[in-house]
Amino acid sequence: MANVDFDSFKEVAKDVLDGATAGVKGFAIERMPFVKGFCRMCDDGWLQGWHERNGGNLTYRMTDEDINAARPFFDAEPREWVSMGVTGESLAGSYFLSTGSGKYMRNVADDPAHNIGIVEVNEAGDAYRIVWGLLDAAKPTSEFPSHYMNHCVAAERTNGANRVIYHAHTPGIIEMSFIVPLTDHDFTRRLWQMMTECVVVFPAGVGVVPWMVPGGAAIAEASSELMKTYDTIVWAHHGLFAAGPDFDTTFGLMHTVEKAASLYVAARVANGGSEDWLNKIEDKGLIDTCHDFNIAINESFVG
Ligand code: 13P
Ligand code: ZN
Repeated sequence: MANVDFDSFKEVAKDVLDGATAGVKGFAIERMPFVKGFCRMCDDGWLQGWHERNGGNLTYRMTDEDINAARPFFDAEPREWVSMGVTGESLAGSYFLSTGSGKYMRNVADDPAHNIGIVEVNEAGDAYRIVWGLLDAAKPTSEFPSHYMNHCVAAERTNGANRVIYHAHTPGIIEMSFIVPLTDHDFTRRLWQMMTECVVVFPAGVGVVPWMVPGGAAIAEASSELMKTYDTIVWAHHGLFAAGPDFDTTFGLMHTVEKAASLYVAARVANGGSEDWLNKIEDKGLIDTCHDFNIAINESFVG
């Protein structure tokens, strides 16, 4: 009898200890600034109406400091390596915080461990494995190959400054896909003309990927080609893909481009469908603004 009691005591004690350890681990990692910033951005996008159902995804390339702080909370046994279907050598060995595939942005802040996770990319730059979070057999976003390839290109272009890639189902940009020719030139000029500071926020303009099947290597390759030039890429009839050095800048970029897109659609409706505006910002205005802000405008879109 004494033995039985002792065994049950041990079991209860183990459960309590496991629960407490899990609680402390979850709590600790969720309190880290990069995880808090990530969760806040998911919520901000949800509040903007950009993330119906599981629409959209977010990844963040962790700093060495982030990795060192988070490592004690990684799973004792990392999960299986999963092929990405693309290869990017420049960020091989990096760690990313990623939203989960099929997960809803509106749920991220309430329960990070089930909705987001940390993945490690292998030394060949062609596979990942989950080391924290994404509990109950969840996986990183289906757009992870696109995110990874674009991280590689954006980090190279910015000497390592770029850390965030964000995809959202922004309604104004999707509406524009129906009525504006699907070229970098046509989208960029119209967006710049909508609001004075657009040209300051995205002076390189925006790239446009025609409609493509989401989630595969093809859209990853097409986007990463454009990422050599642009921080923002339109996915026709789908949404936007944006890159930046931190959460604020990337969210601000997405917000600015999407606001310009909705202004364009609203102004066009108000103008009876015509693009023959009574008043508009002329090319000289765009060039002068960049000159005064000491910013290099993409000259292929003006003049
Ligand atoms: P995930 O749920 O796999 O992230 O897919 C959402 C999405 O927006 C695909 O483009
Ligand atoms: Zn999408």
